[in-house]
Amino acid sequence: SASLSTFAFEPNPTPLAIEDRAKLLVDPGFGKVFTDHMAIVEYNEGEGWHSARIAPRGSVTMDPASSVLHYAQEIFEGLKAYSRPDGGAALFRPEANARRFNDSARRLAMPAIPEEIFLGSIDALVRADSGWIPQGEDGALYLRPFMIASEVFLGVKPSSQYLYMVLASSVGAYFKGSTPAVSLWVTREYTRAAPGGTGAAKCGGNYAASLVAQAEAIRNGCDQVVFLDAVERRWIEELGGMNVFFVFDDGSMLTPPLGTILPGITRDSILTLARAQGITVREELYSIEQWEADAKSGRLTEAFACGTAAVVTPIGSVASAEGKFTIGGQSAGPLTQRIRSMLVDIQRGNAPDPYGWVK
Ligand code: COI
Repeated sequence: SASLSTFAFEPNPTPLAIEDRAKLLVDPGFGKVFTDHMAIVEYNEGEGWHSARIAPRGSVTMDPASSVLHYAQEIFEGLKAYSRPDGGAALFRPEANARRFNDSARRLAMPAIPEEIFLGSIDALVRADSGWIPQGEDGALYLRPFMIASEVFLGVKPSSQYLYMVLASSVGAYFKGSTPAVSLWVTREYTRAAPGGTGAAKCGGNYAASLVAQAEAIRNGCDQVVFLDAVERRWIEELGGMNVFFVFDDGSMLTPPLGTILPGITRDSILTLARAQGITVREELYSIEQWEADAKSGRLTEAFACGTAAVVTPIGSVASAEGKFTIGGQSAGPLTQRIRSMLVDIQRGNAPDPYGWVK
């Protein structure tokens, strides 16, 4: 209904002072600086979605038996608002996030949220907190919509009550200090997702399961973990929190196919942009052995990670218990740079938007 997309606005009576905010925005890092407000919408089986509001950011009180705390019925999204050359703010493909959110909801046996509420919540929050977008070249307002099961019940079944919320966080680059290229660690012990599992859903559980492998990567001096498929343990799937692309000496590209991986919106945008440039991009299985052989022979010239948080980040080296190999010049290669610029220029309003992605 029309009223559902109307968010009540409860302004924060004590917003952070402008000078204090300006200090935080100089070098915000990733996911540490939060704005003055948040969006909240509640759901229960009788009423459906209701009580949509923008409220002061603050704690939520939860009963310790709330089912999300026990069985992890939770999903989330990530998207960015960018400040525009004309002074406004714009989102990148928010409808794609709305669709994926509801795909995730279906997989986690949660109710769908009408797209108008999802988009309305983000729009209202960005309006309330548009002064929190950092101005630097990597600066953006990272929006984090999420849904949690809030029924007070310890039986294992889908909750009858949910809370949908959106947080806004002022961010800079996700990888700091590791540019110009990130180092990867291939975990042989842990897998992220199996056929029939939740790999394609954006649920907290997938990231919880990735942490021990990510910690193994850090322990081995690497920035990000690489997961291989759960069945044959050889096909490259994705990194701890981003998708991966490979670039070959014939100018073609490859990325792992959808199925058990997170269907990245950045991944999808890169496929579209690259193909429009006449670049051949295959969505095909690629093994870790082949990656090493191709990197060593020079057939593979570049590789990069991509995601909303990571944008396009070059990969410089790949290590595992068996040894290490390097990629190209261990910095952003020409195609990686070109893809990154094409994407970022559209996102930030410095290039035409032929696909109508910017909202
Ligand atoms: C994103 O790119 O938005 C993600 O959700 C990944 C996470 C590493 C922040």
